[in-house]
Amino acid sequence: MLLPSIAITSHAVLFPARAQHQDTDILAWIHAVEAVAPFRTMTTPRGLPMKAAITNAGTVGWVSDRHGYRYSTVDPMTGKPWPVLNDDVVNLVCQSAGDAGFPGFRPDVCLINRYDVGAGMGAHRDEDEQDFSAPIVSISLGLPARFFFGGLERTGPTVAVPLAHGDVLVWGGPDRLRYHGVRPLKPGSHPLTGSRRFNLTFRKALSM
Ligand code: SIN
Ligand code: FE2
Repeated sequence: MLLPSIAITSHAVLFPARAQHQDTDILAWIHAVEAVAPFRTMTTPRGLPMKAAITNAGTVGWVSDRHGYRYSTVDPMTGKPWPVLNDDVVNLVCQSAGDAGFPGFRPDVCLINRYDVGAGMGAHRDEDEQDFSAPIVSISLGLPARFFFGGLERTGPTVAVPLAHGDVLVWGGPDRLRYHGVRPLKPGSHPLTGSRRFNLTFRKALSM
């Protein structure tokens, strides 16, 4: 089956609504994850609260506090390991990565962001992983986002990438370290998530 795809840049591909048929399963998985590793507001190294609430699943989890950004084998809030990844979602992620030109991608972590109305994420690069040869695979659920994709420098032109419920976005290769972010979430209501948006980014954090 040929899936619709939109090239955003040379190595960033959007698959509109590709995760939509699994939306209730993915949401159920998010709720199972948050039952063990609750969403929380993390603090940036400068001491400011992040606007999106965050949790993780996988071998390690991305955390931020006054000591900096890093991956941690345990959830600092509970001292427990992060919940495991979900095989069905990982299959979708691996197929999407393959179709975007990254065969063989196996994620070891999923960072889950939860945005309430008004929450966004400033321009940043995903650069705490050990293996930049692996892409990032993003799945969006719920209210639409105004995602933007920039260049290899923090400032400069950006491309607006509207991300709707079920959209899968893959970026890697020469585009792996591009700056990106999310404009503040506009008010609205989604039948499955209410006045929220969830975003899952699957990454390969460890090089082994
Ligand atoms: C991120 O860059 O970590 C989040 C992207 C998104 O919410 O779409
Ligand atoms: Fe990111």
